Amino acid sequence: MAVDLSLQWLGLSMASPLYNASGVMCRTRDELDAVAGSAAGAVMTKSCTLVAREGNPEPRYRATALGSINSMGLPNEGYQYYFDYAQAFDYRKPLFVSIAGMTLEDNLYMLAALRDLRLPCLPEVNLSCPNLPGKPQLAYDFAATAEALAAFCQVYPGPFGVKLPPYFDPVHFAQMAALLNRFDSLRFVTCINSVGNGLLIDLESETTLIKPKGGLGGLGGDYVLPTALANVREFARLMPEKHVIGCGGIKSGAEAFMHILCGATAVQLGTCLQEEGVAAFARIERELADLMAAKGYTTLADFRGRLKTFD
Ligand code: DHB
Repeated sequence: MAVDLSLQWLGLSMASPLYNASGVMCRTRDELDAVAGSAAGAVMTKSCTLVAREGNPEPRYRATALGSINSMGLPNEGYQYYFDYAQAFDYRKPLFVSIAGMTLEDNLYMLAALRDLRLPCLPEVNLSCPNLPGKPQLAYDFAATAEALAAFCQVYPGPFGVKLPPYFDPVHFAQMAALLNRFDSLRFVTCINSVGNGLLIDLESETTLIKPKGGLGGLGGDYVLPTALANVREFARLMPEKHVIGCGGIKSGAEAFMHILCGATAVQLGTCLQEEGVAAFARIERELADLMAAKGYTTLADFRGRLKTFD
């Protein structure tokens, strides 16, 4: 049975639903080119700020058997580098540009600059960086998020998306979904960013695995899969007019399938891509296609959002 992994959304065509999570394989041109040249269905850039940043002191990323912890601190080349990349990009696959201004004004400045370039790339505004000492995540402040989204829509007329942190309470899912539903040009939400401010410890040395923030960092990988699935599922249910992009704990065709079953339009690889490199895309696509074939599905639409529950 021929399985078709392609998808069309927001006028974009993707040969595969898999691409890189922002932050992984996307800081430099060489890394972005490697994703572009791989089996990934699209390319995402590293969250950028107005001015280039070195990020937090190392070690700032570590992987374990169950996932990863990071407190990178937004190391990036500055927005102009990524906008230049977007201008030179061939658009044989979609390009998403992640924006993470240090202030609302910085985000508006970058969105206005991107608007003026009139490129076919789409912005994913990051409302959920957990790793800046002393700076809380915008997306855990609902009033500030509403104000920011209203300002984004004033400045940027085109379709855009946001990267959300995980939420952990049904009331918060409902409140955030109601808020996001007020903005028509907000067309996609990516769920989830890392589970913020976890702590992993090396037992032998009795030391934190990473240096910044006393060892606190964002968790990815197996640690976060159930939280990611719940966020994808709830936001997909509560925002039927928007696309939800799944991210969190995908390391084989099985987790990719589960995210799509929960309603994800497409899915991103974070920890797995960091650990395995771009070969992960072709491997997981093969596994997803094999799983679909075994289940008798030929397209992603055959099972997307069709999660069964007991009630
Ligand atoms: C960083 C981490 C994130 O989870 C994020 O959304 C943005 C930046 C970082 O530490 O670089």
